[in-house]
Amino acid sequence: MLGVIGTGYLGATHAACMAELGFDVVGVDTDESKVRSLSQGELPFYEPDLPELLAKNVAAGRLRFTTDFNELANADMHFICVGTPQQPGKNAADLSYVKASVAAVAAIAKPGSLLVGKSTVPVGTADALSASLPSHLELAWNPEFLREGFAVEDTLRPNRLVVGVQSDRAENLLKEVYQSLIKDGVPWISADLRTAELVKVAANSFLATKISFINAMAEICDASGGDVTVLAKAIGYDPRIGNRFLQAGIGFGGGCLPKDIRAFMARADELGATQALEFLREIDSINLRARKRVIELVRRDLSEALKSKRIAVLGAAFKPDSDDVRDSPALDIAVQIQAAGADVVVHDPKAIEPARKRFPALNFASSIDEVLKDAEIVLHLTEWKIYREIDPVKAKSLVSKAIIIDGRNALDRNKWIDAGWQFRALGVSDKEA
Ligand code: UDX
Repeated sequence: MLGVIGTGYLGATHAACMAELGFDVVGVDTDESKVRSLSQGELPFYEPDLPELLAKNVAAGRLRFTTDFNELANADMHFICVGTPQQPGKNAADLSYVKASVAAVAAIAKPGSLLVGKSTVPVGTADALSASLPSHLELAWNPEFLREGFAVEDTLRPNRLVVGVQSDRAENLLKEVYQSLIKDGVPWISADLRTAELVKVAANSFLATKISFINAMAEICDASGGDVTVLAKAIGYDPRIGNRFLQAGIGFGGGCLPKDIRAFMARADELGATQALEFLREIDSINLRARKRVIELVRRDLSEALKSKRIAVLGAAFKPDSDDVRDSPALDIAVQIQAAGADVVVHDPKAIEPARKRFPALNFASSIDEVLKDAEIVLHLTEWKIYREIDPVKAKSLVSKAIIIDGRNALDRNKWIDAGWQFRALGVSDKEA
């Protein structure tokens, strides 16, 4: 039997996928409403393919959820999947949920069972937690690399499995659990605890760096008259560079990349290695600057005066195929423009409710037609497929002024220009109809 502690994105996905692999799984969370809905086979957030997997395994009796840690007493392995959010006003991660769940599991775990951390933690955390455990329990770290929107795929067909272990026994137990994935050829990397913790933050720092690199090139294109979309395509053909994560636009957000690079910097400070990660400070500021650059474009088009101007925002989620609005660049821009006095209306196919919860003062539209109606400028900020399918001719008949800013460089520019729109994008010089 496997225990999964924390049933957010990571935990709910891991629990359902482990049950899908045939294990008997118990998920524990302190949030009663989450446990109630998961127990009924209902997912409290949007993630493609996961609802089916959850419902199927709950119905098969292989997967259940509870608020009671005692129900983990018989588990052979306990996966710690709780959040490590950014501490308010600081760069460092809040480890209180990890510490509390390790303590709660330690109190009930049967001798010989293995605790496996999956949460993203600062290097050294696992060593410290391990030292706090009674001698009959052992800790391993098995970082998770799942992307929202592809959570099931990334868990059942990951591009690598990384385990930080302190004994051959722990590694063998983990190999048993992941046996079918290993058989499918998923690379297995065994490391010490510290390296395993570092792999996760290093990977996310690299991805953030790639995005900020191309956004820095977008700034240079804006200054010089180049086109960052062509530039990205051209450099991406070099296999040493690769074409993924080179989409210039309003930058990265979400529950991982921004807080992970900040927590990594905070940990480097503690380790006396501040300089090694100084570049991440720049990565963070390039990223936040992209949001400001969109607002500058809006101001330029509306002759600086935002007051009472009707602005349509397409997208609230931090990326498509997700209803996650944590540190969403789209919402941040919408809120900043509204704070400057504009009349902002936001549309998103999945994230309106979470967005409303976070920013109740924003206005939301439930259809694309409604959000476009009478707009003086349209901002495309999350690249949902449905936005690429908008007919620019029809859209033009709804708005008051046909100006669009493609904050994700994802729309078919020529189609919009041919329909008579003024088309703006980051890193691409203006093209008029
Ligand atoms: C990320 C990592 O990819 C994943 O491995 C890790 O486990 C968790 O963090 P996720 O937060 O789901 O996953 O999103 P990701 O797909 O990485 O996108 C992050 C942000 O970068 C989004 O806001 C996205 O819009 C933005 N992005 C991505 C770009 O701006 N340009 C790109 O080219 C790619």
